[in-house]
Amino acid sequence: MTVNRGQWSSQVGFVLAAAGSAVGLGNIWRFPYMTGENGGGAFLLVYLLCVICFGLPVMLLEISLGRATQRNPVGAIEKVAPRSSWRALGFLALLTGLCILSYYSVIAGKVLAFGALYARSLVTGGTVTYTGVTPEVLFYFAVFMVLTVLVVVGGVQRGIERWAKILMPLLLVTMIAIIVRGLFLPGAMAGVRWFLTPDFSKITLTVVLNAMAQAFFSLSLGMGAMLTYGSYLSKHQDILRCGVWVVVFDTLVAVLAGFMIFPAVFALGGNPAAGSTLIFEVLPRVFGSMAGGGLVAVVFFFLLCVAALTSTVSLLEVVTAYFVDELSWSRARTVWSVGIAAIVVGIPSALALAGITPWSTVHLFGREGFLDAMDFLWGNLSLAVGSLLLCVFVISRWGLKRAADEIESSSRRFRSLRGVWIFFVRWVCPISIAIILAAKVIGWS
Ligand code: PFF
Repeated sequence: MTVNRGQWSSQVGFVLAAAGSAVGLGNIWRFPYMTGENGGGAFLLVYLLCVICFGLPVMLLEISLGRATQRNPVGAIEKVAPRSSWRALGFLALLTGLCILSYYSVIAGKVLAFGALYARSLVTGGTVTYTGVTPEVLFYFAVFMVLTVLVVVGGVQRGIERWAKILMPLLLVTMIAIIVRGLFLPGAMAGVRWFLTPDFSKITLTVVLNAMAQAFFSLSLGMGAMLTYGSYLSKHQDILRCGVWVVVFDTLVAVLAGFMIFPAVFALGGNPAAGSTLIFEVLPRVFGSMAGGGLVAVVFFFLLCVAALTSTVSLLEVVTAYFVDELSWSRARTVWSVGIAAIVVGIPSALALAGITPWSTVHLFGREGFLDAMDFLWGNLSLAVGSLLLCVFVISRWGLKRAADEIESSSRRFRSLRGVWIFFVRWVCPISIAIILAAKVIGWS
């Protein structure tokens, strides 16, 4: 049943692929806009706390369950607790993966469109204007989905590892170049201060929920992506080290994205709380103020597309692994079917992005527009619920001792951290996540 499961060729391969899943639009599009809407420095502080208290512990938990069972989310649960209703948690993970994939690719399509526009204007010398009309949005959304499908059809190693290896460091270098340009703009320091100085009066329950959810989203946790990638990890590769690397790298990129956006927002006169369009409003102005900005824009949007691609690949891989492992579907057939399903599910989000009513104006879950509502439902709530239930599942069915043994079997250093980790996964994570979610549902502020 499990023939043909690939494995990472090396520990570095896993770290790069997992970091590829983690680093994406979550860091560069979602983190700045969430920070902008939720009070700047205060959000950054709560976010960093959430990464340490929830992100790292749940990351190690997911990877260990994946490696121990060598399965997709549904299969992993089935292996630990056969025929139990916990199976539903596995299916929730798959559904979440499909839904995030759908709207995430719509945004990624917009990034692709920006890249293409800048490339065209480099050649023709014309100005860059993004119209975002429906056919354009749908076209780039579909192109992006097809790219994702093509990479995933290639399989774990050939498809995923290779991409992450070459292009992620390049993205970092380009971001640093843009940051340096932004910091030299007059008035930029106000943005730096705003980003780094926490105003404690801004910390509300909504800010905490958003920061927690952003940590799960950014680290690809709560829907089995790290579980699935961990299932391709061999028994002697160090889970602790891999997990820490991914968390550190992902957080670094998010913080850099903050430095890329906020100084520029303050220097060029924008609104940090502009919402999900923030980076698309700010970055073109930065490129406009830069010598050779057109070329930097092409490189940046291209690399951001690749970063998004290594994330959508992981979303699609989770769902694919289920059909291939459990139902013995062929890889290509599965990937194409899921890709087409994600396009269908994503169409309302694409129409929302194109400004088509009622999709762009509906109010759902306190968000305006279908895309933002999907992001709230799946990107915020579902990942938090998934992470919470995963903790409860491991505590009550698999056993934290087994999970800790799995990590320790390949990591000597984990021995001294074992007690702390168990404490966090048993008490801190489930109780805090449950309280934050419950408070939100009850409607506390
Ligand atoms: N972590 C990705 C990002 O920050 O862009 C998004 C993501 C990928 C979320 C995979 C969840 C996931 F399972």
